[in-house]
Parts: sequence; C-alpha cells; structure tokens
Amino acid sequence: MVLVGLAVGTALALVAWLIPWLPDQGADEAGGIDNAYWLVTIICVFIFALVAGVSIYAVWKFRAAPDDEDDGRPIHGHTGLEVAWTIVPTILVTAISVYSGVVLTQIDDIPAEHRTVQVTAQQFAWTFTYPEAQLTTGQLVLPVNEPVELQLEARDVIHSFWVPEWRMKQDAVPGITTRLVITPNKTGTYTVVCTELCGLGHATMRARAIVMTQGDFQAWLREQREAAAAAGANQGKSLFTSLCGSCHTLGDAGSQGEVGPNLDNVLADADAQFVRESIVAPDAEIAEGFQPGVMPKTYGEQLSDQQLDALVEYLIEAVGGGE
Ligand code: CUA
Repeated sequence: MVLVGLAVGTALALVAWLIPWLPDQGADEAGGIDNAYWLVTIICVFIFALVAGVSIYAVWKFRAAPDDEDDGRPIHGHTGLEVAWTIVPTILVTAISVYSGVVLTQIDDIPAEHRTVQVTAQQFAWTFTYPEAQLTTGQLVLPVNEPVELQLEARDVIHSFWVPEWRMKQDAVPGITTRLVITPNKTGTYTVVCTELCGLGHATMRARAIVMTQGDFQAWLREQREAAAAAGANQGKSLFTSLCGSCHTLGDAGSQGEVGPNLDNVLADADAQFVRESIVAPDAEIAEGFQPGVMPKTYGEQLSDQQLDALVEYLIEAVGGGE
C-alpha cells in the first residue's frame, strides 16, 4: 500500500517536472520571481498532500464497523499537536514573507544607469515613447542586457502591462505614473499583454516587444529618427506604422485582418471623408465580422489636423493608387 503510494507519487512528480509550466525566462528579474513562485507552490503542494493523505487515511482506518452503534471516544485536544500546527505554519509564512521581500527589493531597484521609455495605455492600444529620441512607436523595442525603466500612464481606465517572459507586471492607472524596471536578457520577439479587464477590446490589447542587440537597437533608433525627420511625404506612412500597423494590415489583399479589418478591403473605394471619419469616429461604421468599441476613439485629439491629413492621404493612395 505504502509502496504503491510512493510509486504513484514519484511518477506524478516526474511528469510534473517534465512539463514546462512557465514561459522561458527573458529578463534578469525573472529568476527571483520564479524561485518565489516555486517556493510557495512546493510548500502548498506538500501541505495539501499531507492534509489530504491524513484525511483519507483517517476516514478509512477509523470508519465505524457495520454493527457499531456506540459514540466515538471523547478526545480533549493534544497540546503537542496544537503547538506543532501553530509553529510550523508560522515558520513557513515568515520564510515566504522574508524571501518575497528580498526578491521584491531586488526587482524594484532602479540602477543609476538606465534607459527610460514612457508607456501609454488606452482602450485598446499601447504606445511607447523614447524621450531622448523624441520618438513614439506602436511597438516596444529594447536593447538586450540594459536596464530600462518603463513609466506607465493610462489615458482612460486601468490597464496592466505584462510580458510573460519578463514576469514583471504593473498597472497603468489614470492620473498617476507607475514604474517598472526590466532588464531583458534574451533577444527575440515577445508580446505585451494587457492583464486588466479594461473593456470590450481587452483581449486584443496587445503589442509587440522586440529585444535586439545594442548595435541593432542603435540602428533602429537612427532609422526611426530619420523616418520621423523625413516627415512630409513619409509622414502618413510612419503614422500608419506606429499607430495603425499593429492591428490593421495594408497592401496584403489576401488577409482579412486580425484585430482590425484589412484596410485594403474596407477602404477600397473610400473617399477622404470616410477615411477620416473611420479614424476619428471608428464606431460610426463597423466592418462585417468585427466588433465596435475595439479601436481607440482618441485619434481625433491625439493627431493634429495636418497629421490626420497626411495619414488619410497615405491610406487612400495605398489602397487605391497602389497598383
Ligand atoms: Cu487594457 Cu485590458
């Protein structure tokens, strides 16, 4: 009986060990968080197994015989047991608090040398501003192995910033600036997820986070700055890339679009008036198969008249005059 239990337990533990429960670690902060998580999980699993095991054993071992009509023997406490079940949890909970406190201090620490990126959350999109480069984009691009302080702001309701591989998570709250320090340590493409139910488009509130080498990052910054400087003719295109491109496809006739409709379809025969209205008041007309309320309604305030004209002009040219 005990042997069978041991065998089953070992087999379960082995299977559990082989399952990749957590996403790959992509930031320096991930290690400490994972250790705290596993510390709590292992303690919980152990206590649960102990309580469940003793309960099942007691139910089986001390069950009443079919002809037993007597009351059970009166039991008046057990000092040793009571002391033990007070002291053991006290030690465990204290250990968890102390360890979590240590990890929290480590991951909250802002190194003197760090980059700052402003993150703006709104229903239902993320934008990222690089103050030194005076650059705003729709995707978060960071150099590897360099600490970055994200300053989070929200325009409307509470959102929450999370990249699973980096583990670090922070709310973006209207009216205040919250902070998050991350040191990505693996290049690659990740997904920024909103983890606070913020409205109809919550599930679609995602952005790309790209971690690249220092060299690639500097090149990217230069490219973005040049594109911004070359404004004029290219302004519409760069606005599209930074603001619209994470949800809408363009110049890809086969696509239906994912979060938002493929603009080749919905703007095919549109005039400037319609394109403008679709940007400023997106719910006025909704493409078939898509939900109202998902696209941000703030572009009318966010963009200047001149930027709006450039974007409209670019879109009309792209869907109509392209071929
Ligand atoms: Cu923003 Cu959920």
